[in-house]
Amino acid sequence: LREHEEFTKVKNIATIELGRYEIETWYFSPFPPEYNDCSKLYFCEFCLNFMKRKEQLQRHMKKCDLKHPPGDEIYRSGTLSMFEVDGKKNKVYGQNLCYLAKLFLDHKTLYYDVDLFLFYVLCECDDRGCHMVGYFSKEKHSEESYNLACILTLPPYQRKGYGKFLIAFSYELSKKEGKVGTPERPLSDLGLLSYKGYWTRVLLDILKKHKANISIKMGKVGSGILGQSFLLLHVRSSVT
Ligand code: ACO
Ligand code: ZN
Repeated sequence: LREHEEFTKVKNIATIELGRYEIETWYFSPFPPEYNDCSKLYFCEFCLNFMKRKEQLQRHMKKCDLKHPPGDEIYRSGTLSMFEVDGKKNKVYGQNLCYLAKLFLDHKTLYYDVDLFLFYVLCECDDRGCHMVGYFSKEKHSEESYNLACILTLPPYQRKGYGKFLIAFSYELSKKEGKVGTPERPLSDLGLLSYKGYWTRVLLDILKKHKANISIKMGKVGSGILGQSFLLLHVRSSVT
């Protein structure tokens, strides 16, 4: 019911300021009631606190000492860094990130219980700090084997390959855990497109590598939307 209510509510925040971007929002996000009367919000791009007025943000930026997401930097390649943020240790950051993300996610309930999630925040870093380009969240313990709950690339950074990088990262984490994983459903149109793109690339790479020595079996476990498709690739051991 709550999901339905949120879904049918009218978009309140029309634009946000985040770092050097002003971004038009896509969907309703349930910000606390005191923000009901404003159509623009000003975010600190590092701690993700949000404010009603630009002067408040300017004052905040003078004293905010974060220059990257809180948590551990777990990956770096060139100017790209990934931070792992534990929702339990950084509750306010996790909540702020959820409020922000919901502005671009349609069919998602907002989780207030950020304790149960890890947030993987991808940043482009320069001498001013690490600027968030996107993120995905992940339940610490998922009974359904979900390895990703929500994924977002911020609009100014979309269509540059970051979505597929985030998806690849989520599967690499699962591989390290020795588990199979799958994203939470439903996927949005753009989510589906990105997953199809990711898996097309993975399968083509395997096919290219093994050329003729391969047999493919397609199947589905379970039924309905909860059913999980699988591909069994069998690589024949050396041909003469
Ligand atoms: N129109 C057409 N194709 C697009 C568009 C678009 N607007 N945006 C991305 N694509 C295609 C790309 O061309 C690419 O296709 P390819 O594999 O054939 O090359 C593929 O989608 C992935 O592109 P990326 O650049 O890697 O992805 P991006 O950084 O744009 O992020 C994402 C994709 C995260 C889905 C982004 O669109 C987004 O944040 N959308 C809003 C939030 C959302 O819908 N999240 C998914 C919800 S489902 C879930 O969370 C489990
Ligand atoms: Zn701040």
